[in-house]
Amino acid sequence: MTEIAYLTEFMLGRILVRVTATQRYDTMSTARLLMRRWLESDREPFAALNGDQETMRFFPQTLDRAASDDFVDTIESRFEEQGYGLWAIEITDTGEFIGFTGLNSMPAGTPGAGGLEVGWRLAKTAWHHGYATEAASAALVVAFDRLGLDEIWSMTSVLNEPSIAVMRRLGLSEVGRFDHPRVPEGHVLRPHVCYRLTRAEFAGARAG
Ligand SMILES: CC(C)(COP(=O)(O)OP(=O)(O)OC[C@H]1O[C@@H](n2cnc3c(N)ncnc32)[C@H](O)[C@@H]1OP(=O)(O)O)[C@@H](O)C(=O)NCCC(=O)NCCS
Repeated sequence: MTEIAYLTEFMLGRILVRVTATQRYDTMSTARLLMRRWLESDREPFAALNGDQETMRFFPQTLDRAASDDFVDTIESRFEEQGYGLWAIEITDTGEFIGFTGLNSMPAGTPGAGGLEVGWRLAKTAWHHGYATEAASAALVVAFDRLGLDEIWSMTSVLNEPSIAVMRRLGLSEVGRFDHPRVPEGHVLRPHVCYRLTRAEFAGARAG
């Protein structure tokens, strides 16, 4: 799949979103990032960030190497089935793998269940550069322009301000709060917030 299908270019706030993609979106590029299928060489740095307490502070637990590798396998099998998913993110200039951003199913028992969520997890060294917002903008282009979705969701712990800030930068707005069914009762991370962006809202944000 090397054929390049040009998608789009627009400004989202201060972020230049210039997206090119291959067929089935195995590979996409934005102004500063390569979004691609996962490589064997991603497994070690991905396990490092999944095992890092600070990076995972809004998840009930860190992941060990085996759980991290299982996650990569699941992501890759979804790419095989659907042609899109949680892209491995690489900084184009350096080739450094920094984590993932992309599209995933909203789990059962959450608002928007059955729909798609946009999500992100980056290594600490890649925070505060706008990378999550940039890559997520490209994922939104796929969701709305190519998959034809009417809405996209995102959710996180109510405590996860950095993630909520990404949602807001992308133009999503809060639609409700809920207790995450997979987080144990009484756990500080159980209260979650759900955000949503409609096709019309994304079109408006792109128009400036
Ligand atoms: C959630 C997460 C991806 C947010 O990362 P982030 O760096 O805050 O978000 P972005 O990549 O969009 O970067 C935005 C920041 O880059 C800054 N920035 C710097 N250069 C920029 C540029 N050229 N363009 C845009 N923003 C830029 C912005 O001002 C903003 O700064 P701030 O963090 O001081 O407010 C990150 O905290 C993370 O991976 N956390 C661990 C995993 C996690 O919790 N995931 C979500 C679970 S639901």
